[in-house]
Amino acid sequence: MKSLVILISGRGSNMRSIVDAGLSADIRAVISNRPDAAGLAHARERGIATAVVDHMAFPDRAHFDRALAREIDRHAPDLVVLAGFMRILTPEFVDHYRGRMINIHPSLLPAFTGLHTHRRAIEAGCRLAGATVHFVTGELDGGPIIAQAAVPVLQDDTEDALAARVLAQEHILYPQVVRWFIDERLALRDGRVHLHGEATPSSAALRVPATDV
Ligand code: GRF
Repeated sequence: MKSLVILISGRGSNMRSIVDAGLSADIRAVISNRPDAAGLAHARERGIATAVVDHMAFPDRAHFDRALAREIDRHAPDLVVLAGFMRILTPEFVDHYRGRMINIHPSLLPAFTGLHTHRRAIEAGCRLAGATVHFVTGELDGGPIIAQAAVPVLQDDTEDALAARVLAQEHILYPQVVRWFIDERLALRDGRVHLHGEATPSSAALRVPATDV
C-alpha cells in the first residue's frame, strides 16, 4: 500500500477531501507549518498523526526546509501532498522529492501563479477559471501539469463566489490524482507526466463539470 504525508498551512479542506475519500493509502502524517492550522484537528479526529514544524522557529528558509524534510522522511512516504501549504520551498527540498511531491493551485496554470488568483481571473475578464494539480519543481506554481478542472466565471462573479466554485472542484480533482498515484497509474519521467502508460494525460484528466455550476 502506498503511503502519503500531507502538508497544510490552514483550513485544510483539500487535505480533508483526500482523507475522507477512502483511498487505499496509508496516510502517515499531516504536517503544518502553522501551529494554529484548523486542519490539524480534523486529522487528529481521524486518528492520523500530526506534527507542526513552525517556520517562525527557524532563522531562514534553508533551516526550516531541512527540519521539515527530516519530519517528512521519518514517515518515509511514497508521495508528499501539498494541500494549501503556503511556503516557498528551497531547490534542495524540491529536488529531494522530485517526482513524488504534488501541489494544487487554484488557477488554470500557467495563468495566475502566486496569490489572489480568483480576483486576478475576474479582473482579466477570464471566462474560465479552475484548479491545477502538478508535480512540484523549483518554479513557483510551475512543474508538469497532471490534471485541471475548469469552471465558468459568471457575470458579476465575486472573488468569494468564484473561489467556492473552484474549491468544490479541487475537492474532486485532488483525491482523483492521488488515487492515480497510489494505483501506480501516474508518474513523472524525464520531466513529463505519464498517466496510465500514456505520454500525455488523456482528456480524462480534464474535468469540466456540466451540471454543478
Ligand atoms: C486551495 O484553494 C488550494 O488550491 C490553495 O490554497 C487553498 C487551500 O485551501 N493552494 P485548503 O486549506 O485546502 O482548504
